[in-house]
Amino acid sequence: MNAVVVGAYWGDEGKGKIVDLLAADSDWVVRFNGGDNAGHTIVANGKEVVLHVVPAGIVQGKNVAIGPDIFFNPKTFFSDCEAVTKAGFRLKGRMLIDERAHVIMPYHIALDAGGEASGKLGTTKRGIGPAAKDKASRTEDITIHDMAGSVFKERLRAVAAAKANELITAKIVEKASDLNRYADAVYAEYSAYAGRLKQYIGSCAYTLNEELAKGRTMLLEGAQATLLDIVHGTRPHVTSSNCTAGGAAANLGVDLRKFKVVAIAKAYPTRVGEGEFPTELGSYEEAKKEKKGEQLTAAEKKKAVDGDLKLLGKWIRQDGKEFGATTGRPRRTGFPDFVALRYSAMINSVDEWAITKIDVLSGKPFKAAVAYEKEGKKTTRFPFRLEGWKPVYGSKEYFWQQMSEGEKLAAVKNGYDALPEGMKEYIKDLVAATNTPASMVSIGPEREMTVVKDVLKRTKEY
Ligand code: GDP
Ligand code: IMO
Ligand code: MG
Repeated sequence: MNAVVVGAYWGDEGKGKIVDLLAADSDWVVRFNGGDNAGHTIVANGKEVVLHVVPAGIVQGKNVAIGPDIFFNPKTFFSDCEAVTKAGFRLKGRMLIDERAHVIMPYHIALDAGGEASGKLGTTKRGIGPAAKDKASRTEDITIHDMAGSVFKERLRAVAAAKANELITAKIVEKASDLNRYADAVYAEYSAYAGRLKQYIGSCAYTLNEELAKGRTMLLEGAQATLLDIVHGTRPHVTSSNCTAGGAAANLGVDLRKFKVVAIAKAYPTRVGEGEFPTELGSYEEAKKEKKGEQLTAAEKKKAVDGDLKLLGKWIRQDGKEFGATTGRPRRTGFPDFVALRYSAMINSVDEWAITKIDVLSGKPFKAAVAYEKEGKKTTRFPFRLEGWKPVYGSKEYFWQQMSEGEKLAAVKNGYDALPEGMKEYIKDLVAATNTPASMVSIGPEREMTVVKDVLKRTKEY
């Protein structure tokens, strides 16, 4: 199967887990957007691996490619590879890095960390915005091709000169007469990376299309997610790349008609960083004070069940281990949002949902937003500017008891029907609200904790 895998909300839906799972049947896994702002977690053979730029298929020993619209941090590439081997997996397949990809330079990271966007948007400070700005400038960018070419040193000096004001204002370089020295120091470090990377550099458009023509199968792994997309997301609180299924085709130069679109609907949305979040439980300010691993007392859990939404949000965050895989920041948590999912289904032409982290909602009563309301006006569309729009919840409250390990294993073995009734009710409503069937239900972080059997068959009718 050829598939493109994208996130439906604001990221961290479990793309790493689902791509790793599907990679078993795939010859290639290709990252098509973003950079090391992403953090994709895979749990396999009892080991956890977090990848930031290398595609998740590497853990299954597949061929992997890093596409031309990636913002590429060489250091992260090497540390990702090291994380894979340290966890005991082997790098077996081919590795391809597109010559057109843009390199994240040290000044991009410094500009991001010190810039306005890091506070206002809550960026990951990985240099993505500044690198994207240079890409759009077309005159101040450094591609992989530049980095591995014979005039890299001259190119860096020219770019540093063009960016002189920016570099001096941000105190990355003290004065104009230091610019060449700065550029040469960056050159010394990055030309060494280029030497190590040369063996992998090529053209994704040619290689991937040739491979598709030979009948090889491919997974296109999205980073970030639909609501963080630079065009269709909740601007300005978005990332700097196209995160949608259509973006995959545009970014890689492949024919999307050859691919099934699998989007990940996390069972509840999360958001890390600033921006509107209509169904948020509690507030970001409160979430920021929380530490990973804080447990709720029995009394607090009872309060959450009785309607304390702040505590419910905390409970979901702690049970779901919702702390960033890249920055460690607490993720904001919210009630499911069918308005947002319907929008994502439309934007991505989603064929099938993979519903993840549904186990986290066990034992917790919750509702789902079915519309938004503002000043007496109601809509089932996802507004461009979310300010002031409040969620309208469906009348149903969903609930099912915690599943034991035995029940989870039985569901994996026996399929959809073995899932708790309350869970199936929620899945059924999600599928009906989005007019999109589900093909997978993930009930734990491990690769095998996934219900695949009978899911599509049972949900297609809705
Ligand atoms: P990604 O950025 O979309 O790849 O997602 P992240 O890796 O940043 O965050 C997802 C987190 O949820 C990771 O820690 C996964 O191991 C974990 N995870 C994925 N699927 C499930 C699931 O079905 N249940 C639970 N409890 N955890 C999951
Ligand atoms: P994965 O692939 C969640 C968010 C940041 C910030 C905004 C802009 O793991 O789902 P950027 O550094 O890209 O300029 O930050 O986007 N963001 C993510 N949130 N998961 C991600 O990736 C993200 N990548 C960026 O928190 O709000
Ligand atoms: Mg992530």
